[in-house]
Amino acid sequence: MGKDVIIACDFAGAKETFEFLDKFEDKKPFVKIGMELFYAEGPSIVKEIKRRGHKIFLDLKLHDIPNTVKKAMAVLSRLDVDMTNLHAGGTKAMMEAALEGLTRPDGTRPMLIAVTQLTSTSQERMESDILIKEPIDKVVMHYASCASEAGLDGVVCSPKEAGKVHELLGNSFITVTPGVRFADGDKGDQVRVMTPADAKAIGSDYIVVGRPITAAEDPVAAYERCCREFIG
Ligand code: C5P
Repeated sequence: MGKDVIIACDFAGAKETFEFLDKFEDKKPFVKIGMELFYAEGPSIVKEIKRRGHKIFLDLKLHDIPNTVKKAMAVLSRLDVDMTNLHAGGTKAMMEAALEGLTRPDGTRPMLIAVTQLTSTSQERMESDILIKEPIDKVVMHYASCASEAGLDGVVCSPKEAGKVHELLGNSFITVTPGVRFADGDKGDQVRVMTPADAKAIGSDYIVVGRPITAAEDPVAAYERCCREFIG
């Protein structure tokens, strides 16, 4: 599995996004497009970034009845994204339907990864609001196992969980990990952070990095530093 750094393009619109990507000139980083940018600009932003030669992780976290997710995934697949995701909480049936929808007539498809429990959900809230009484790390591993059984390619998880996911589900089940910070950088609102080098050591396959690159004085240098530390 190719290790890579994915830049979280958490911008409000196309103008800011292209001003940022223009700085990279001939380099074509793997980029993540989230709900904010996609809902603001629609499919055209995906097509334009793809046309410029970037790989795209479309982070829309689908969660609905299997038939709806299957049809929505077919639309996303036609946008020619490289990776997309859904909530494992939608059940194995939903994940299997998603894979069917994503698979193109020639048999190819984007990578599909699952969100387990959001890192914003605490043990306390999970128990009181979702009525799940098991320890959250057990819940995360169970959801990851369901994703693997449904045939998905991996999960989004904290770098701290990546080692455990690989231990349980093997090294070909990929881990995509946000919450990455340089050793000498600002943590911002992230709590459980890791450096790119630590994420590499623990076996993350892809790191998702936003502000340490997008808010850097020299984003290209920050991206290159990230690649050096993570990929080597
Ligand atoms: O700016 P920063 O590096 O914190 O950005 C991390 C990116 O990863 C953001 O797009 C954020 O929404 C996403 N993410 C996260 N934690 C999760 C899941 C996604 O930070 N558990």
